[in-house]
Amino acid sequence: MTQPATIRSVGVVGAGLIGISWATIFVLSGRDVSIFDANPDQRKTALDRLQTNIALLRENGLVDEAIALGNAHVCGSLEDAVTGVDYVQESVLETVEVKSAVSQEIDRAIASETLVGSSSSGIPASAFTKDLVNRERFFIVHPVNPPHLIPVVEIVPAPWSEGDHIPTIRKFMSDIGQEPMVVEKEIEGFVLNRLQGALLNEAWALYSEGYASADDIDRTVRAGLGLRWSLMGPFETIDLNAPGGIADYAERLEPMYHSVAVSRRNPQHWPGSAILKAKTELEERFSGQLRTERETRRDEWLLSLKRAKQGQKTG
Ligand SMILES: NC(=O)c1ccc[n+]([C@@H]2O[C@H](COP(=O)([O-])OP(=O)(O)OC[C@H]3O[C@@H](n4cnc5c(N)ncnc54)[C@H](O)[C@@H]3O)[C@@H](O)[C@H]2O)c1
Repeated sequence: MTQPATIRSVGVVGAGLIGISWATIFVLSGRDVSIFDANPDQRKTALDRLQTNIALLRENGLVDEAIALGNAHVCGSLEDAVTGVDYVQESVLETVEVKSAVSQEIDRAIASETLVGSSSSGIPASAFTKDLVNRERFFIVHPVNPPHLIPVVEIVPAPWSEGDHIPTIRKFMSDIGQEPMVVEKEIEGFVLNRLQGALLNEAWALYSEGYASADDIDRTVRAGLGLRWSLMGPFETIDLNAPGGIADYAERLEPMYHSVAVSRRNPQHWPGSAILKAKTELEERFSGQLRTERETRRDEWLLSLKRAKQGQKTG
């Protein structure tokens, strides 16, 4: 097993929303970054979009004035972007077909010690890396949008991924300011989107059955659960929600949660009619506001939250 002693150079494959956010993190950490996207328009705008991300961080005092884009460049081919780099972050479309084709291209071009992380949101690596020559060096390295503002990263090996590479990827992610966690074995949706999915599935069910408006369901999270969740996870939360701690909470409320789970034993697809109704409701709620304005406002709120959380001790 060979692996890079330190990860100094990174190839970014796919320069959409997530790819450029990753590139922002890599550039800010001083790595050499080569970027490729199959779409020429995405290549053309890549450095400007990177610059916009950095500018927002700079305006908020989170980035040194001196940061320059000198160590980032856009390549004309995937091969150029990944040949000779220590690490590749793949962030192309979320389909098995596209991930398979792009992973094969990466596989053919990388050096013998290069590690590869896929941003896949839920497709496990085993679905698209099985036949690769270097398959033991391919992992899922799944971020949250936008990764340059939200630090958690899920590292998920395929059954054939070499476990000894996990500490290297974990350290690299920590070194560049992310907060890695390891999913010990493959599962569709990994941990993050399984948790998010549980909430979303219940939100759609409650909404489509007429229990509350989309705005009020959003409010329940925004002004309720989400306030605590930005500081602690579900286990730590319930440990403080009963005088005797987590076991006391389980004794008091597990029967209710079990009964709720039993009532949802027959999962339904998100109904088309409910999706349409929610779309209309959200369009009315945000009428007159550009999507880009809402994204910028979200990013500014995230930055305020990050500042507020600075120094939070989690142990
Ligand atoms: N958007 C999110 O909230 C989010 C969060 C975490 C992870 N992800 C994952 O990140 C990945 C990228 O998602 P995104 O939101 O950035 O999508 P996106 O559509 O913004 O970007 C995908 C990019 O991949 C490029 N691409 C497509 N085929 C390619 C190829 N063969 N070679 C090179 N580039 C190619 C496209 O041109 C596009 O620029 C997906 O796997 C997605 O599930 C997304």
